[in-house]
Amino acid sequence: MPVLQAVNVSHRYTQASPTQFSAIENVNIEIENGELVGIIGHTGSGKSTLVQHFNGLLKPTEGKILLDGKDIWESKKTVHQSRFKVGLCFQYPEYQLFEETVYKDIAFGPKNMKLSEEEIDKAVRKAAEYVGISASMFQKSPFDLSGGEKRRVAIAGVMAMEPQVLILDEPTAGLDPKGRDRILDMIKAYQKDTKKTVIFVSHSMEDVAKLATKVLVMNKSRVAMYDTVDNVYSRAEELTEMGLNVPQVTKIFMSLKKQGVDVSQNIYTVEQGKAELLRLLGGSKK
Ligand SMILES: Nc1ncnc2c1ncn2[C@@H]1O[C@H](COP(=O)(O)OP(=O)(O)O)[C@@H](O)[C@H]1O
Ligand SMILES: [Mg+2]
Repeated sequence: MPVLQAVNVSHRYTQASPTQFSAIENVNIEIENGELVGIIGHTGSGKSTLVQHFNGLLKPTEGKILLDGKDIWESKKTVHQSRFKVGLCFQYPEYQLFEETVYKDIAFGPKNMKLSEEEIDKAVRKAAEYVGISASMFQKSPFDLSGGEKRRVAIAGVMAMEPQVLILDEPTAGLDPKGRDRILDMIKAYQKDTKKTVIFVSHSMEDVAKLATKVLVMNKSRVAMYDTVDNVYSRAEELTEMGLNVPQVTKIFMSLKKQGVDVSQNIYTVEQGKAELLRLLGGSKK
């Protein structure tokens, strides 16, 4: 059974008129346990609106969200539970840090779950480790940290609730390349270790290719594609029409292939490109 399911989900922000445009329209998707889903799409295509449905922050105007096969809007209790089972980290989450210390900020979520002090401490330390925040920083004020560190503390706060599904809305937005790679590595390590479902929204086709097992493409409020990285990225022309550019390196390899060079077309990152070129050069020496 999929861990999360959207069944005919539409959302209109104001219910005033039935002709009001839908921020998401008739979304049908299933997300399997342990999957790492990358969501990509133009600004305004409905990515944030969609993910805010997964933990009951937004209620579908039409349709249902099923968590473990159960409608999350079945009762007050199920909505409340979904907030803990599905941990959502907003875009620019560092603006929501407010406690006096890093430790207290990471502990905020688990505290709300009424865990014991000991359980909270364990969860905080584990989450801090995932995001590379050392115990020596616990007593610092979150406001004395760098931008990248603040972001990681905020993410740790959601991880510390040990949600069944972790959702990160544009976790690398506004960070420099180093900070970005750090976050990506961290998401990968977290997923590998916990085997939990992770959903992340991204602007970068390259970042999605680096991490995701499945890619969800949103276009004008609708799901345009939902498939493996290879299957989605091979539809380069359609993606370009949606204003989404496949990575530069992918374009180069696709054009080499067109010109008759025997290369793989499934190259999405510079590292993959390097390996493929080395293979090609090595092969031609024989
Ligand atoms: N709180 C809101 N009230 C009214 N309209 C909104 C609200 N949030 C988003 N929208 C609109 O819904 C559409 C989808 O937005 P959003 O889900 O934020 O897209 P994305 O995350 O892909 O950029 C946009 O047209 C946006 O202007
Ligand atoms: Mg958004």
